[in-house]
Amino acid sequence: MKLLVCGGAGFIGSTFARQRVLEHGDRVTVYDKLTYAGREENLQALSGHAGFRFVKGAIEDAATLAVTLEEERPDAIVNFAAETHVDRSIAEPDAFVRTHALGTYVLLEAARERELRYLQVSTDEVYGSIEVGTFTEESPLHPSSPYSATKTGADLLVQSYFHTYGLPVTICRGSNNYGPYQYPEKLIPLMILNALHGDPLPVYGDGMQVRNWIHAADFSRAIGHVLEHGELGEVYNAGGPDEEANMDVVRRIVELTGASESLIEHVVDRPGHDRRYSLSSEKVRALGWEPQVRFEQGLAETIDWYRENEDWWRPIRSGEYLAYYERQYGRALQS
Ligand SMILES: NC(=O)c1ccc[n+]([C@@H]2O[C@H](COP(=O)([O-])OP(=O)(O)OC[C@H]3O[C@@H](n4cnc5c(N)ncnc54)[C@H](O)[C@@H]3O)[C@@H](O)[C@H]2O)c1
Repeated sequence: MKLLVCGGAGFIGSTFARQRVLEHGDRVTVYDKLTYAGREENLQALSGHAGFRFVKGAIEDAATLAVTLEEERPDAIVNFAAETHVDRSIAEPDAFVRTHALGTYVLLEAARERELRYLQVSTDEVYGSIEVGTFTEESPLHPSSPYSATKTGADLLVQSYFHTYGLPVTICRGSNNYGPYQYPEKLIPLMILNALHGDPLPVYGDGMQVRNWIHAADFSRAIGHVLEHGELGEVYNAGGPDEEANMDVVRRIVELTGASESLIEHVVDRPGHDRRYSLSSEKVRALGWEPQVRFEQGLAETIDWYRENEDWWRPIRSGEYLAYYERQYGRALQS
């Protein structure tokens, strides 16, 4: 396949791009605005590969998008491009509305004009919080943050293009991802890097928020699977094999890094913080996908990756991230 992978310089998009080029022999053009979270370094493994090209562009920029589509003539657009951090969506929702609403609309119009397959990458957060049980694709949508509300809006717009114009779309909703190359504002890399530096480990509220963890390699495989085998117009959930409370994740990281438990510090909870996410993945399993990485093994490997890839995270921990961290947690990182 020839794919335009929007947002492919981010954490999951770059994992997907590597998989498709190196394991499936696809031709991939990554189209990415390079926000603070997007990094060409994430695509280093593909640099110089004949099946890969990088184009800097925003999904809401119809002109640059049109030129890229004309040059590349892909079979499908896979859209990862998003603002992805809930805390930033609470502080500054503006970019979330622009990218998720306007950006998705511009991509859909471009796909409609050229009759392209379109896959929207989405999140379990569109369903909101669930105390017991698990969400299926039929569950009502109850987003609770500007991040999840704008992602929900994008999903609905994608579905409307299927119903109204017959655009060949699918949507794949993942649970909480972890793995190498994740920007350290997110729970797992934040805790790993703070633990390795002896910085305090800020846990929101009581830390008993439960998440359904999926390795980014497994979520990427699910997306590829839906692209190849999914029924058009359908939504597919892809949840990880393990659920874990944030506090237990932090304790595991403390143990695996050899840091001191005294670094754990409870801080004021995120406003409107969802208590539990849980996804049923029956529908995508019926297509033949299975998660391959259990959380215990994936977390240990992720910690090893951050230990061994200081070159990757060092520039982040000395740039914009420091100012963000101080704004968010009211204190500076020590190192
Ligand atoms: N991280 C998770 O736990 C998770 C879980 C489920 C679903 N998702 C979804 O997966 C997708 C990727 O998430 P991620 O964690 O890799 O995010 P990320 O923040 O690491 O990467 C997002 C990428 O999108 C790019 N981007 C942002 N706005 C853009 C725009 N307007 N035009 C072009 N590119 C733009 C950024 O530069 C970056 O490379 C998102 O759609 C997200 O909602 C993430």
